[in-house]
Amino acid sequence: MTQSYKASYRAFTNIALIKYWGKRNESLFLPLTSSLSLTLDAFYTDTTVEFNPEFEADIFILNGVEQGLEETQKVGRFVDLFREAANISLRVKVTSVNHVPTAAGLASSSSAFAALASACNAALNLGLDNRELSIYARQGSGSATRSLFGGFVIWHKGEDDDSQSSYAESIDDADWDIGMLFVVVNAKEKKISSRQGMAHTRNTSPFYQLWPSEVENDLAKIIPAIKEHDFETVGAIAEHNAMKMHASILASNPSFTYFEPESLVAMQIVKELREEGIPCYVTMDAGPNVKVLGRLSQMDQIIARFKQDFAADQLILAKTGNGPLKLEL
Ligand code: DP6
Repeated sequence: MTQSYKASYRAFTNIALIKYWGKRNESLFLPLTSSLSLTLDAFYTDTTVEFNPEFEADIFILNGVEQGLEETQKVGRFVDLFREAANISLRVKVTSVNHVPTAAGLASSSSAFAALASACNAALNLGLDNRELSIYARQGSGSATRSLFGGFVIWHKGEDDDSQSSYAESIDDADWDIGMLFVVVNAKEKKISSRQGMAHTRNTSPFYQLWPSEVENDLAKIIPAIKEHDFETVGAIAEHNAMKMHASILASNPSFTYFEPESLVAMQIVKELREEGIPCYVTMDAGPNVKVLGRLSQMDQIIARFKQDFAADQLILAKTGNGPLKLEL
């Protein structure tokens, strides 16, 4: 009987509170700035990998559908990092399921590459810890670096072109009164990917030159606020950071934006809630969906207000999530 190597992992999505927007080295996925995120429990990817001498080619099955050459090669190139580390050339079968509430359109590469990295490490008995795995996950998609840990996570930009110096680590388990409401404005696939959007902003936006120092300042302020569980300071810094990223995007040439009319409606509701004495804050990524950071204990009130303008299935509540979880085969 031939030996196969198999393992299964679940990893959770994270949302950045201090954004990663721009690379200094595109092939190594080295970012221009450090970034900071919150891992959430509502969206995750389950991935099984099997390395088997009987396989003649890599196979990639996503949500039950066998993927074409391009997607399979992309996954195969990522798995190559692990094949090299284990010094094997066996072909792999990768089976992934994205658990995203119906029609939310919130599937994310962060959970996908974190789950794949964790599964490859276990299947091939490489014994890498999560910090080392974050360096691997980074080379699939930058934001995946941060999904190797639960709670609040920092991804260090690292030094020069030293791939090993850019990794993630946990700074707080986020086991306090905090949650995130996803307001699904548009579930369709985004028109301008983060990868394209960040390169275009970096290359053409005159405001981008301010971005790295703004991120430094925001990180220096948000980290102590997280450690003190100072929710309002954390939220205010996160919202301002997201707005600075989107302002810089708007100033790119030709200009573009991820905002849609309903994104602005959601942002207006957050402002109103704050005026009514319910602190909550907005963040947005490379798409029109709005994420509202709030106290978990006040989410009922926040959701009730959103239901006046949005359908119940556009609103998804997430609590803080953990790092990757080994699944039984
Ligand atoms: C706006 O990690 O998707 O969500 O590294 O090119 O795969 P690549 O980009 P990706 O970018 C995420 C951008 C963001 C902000 C963030 O998650 O920090």
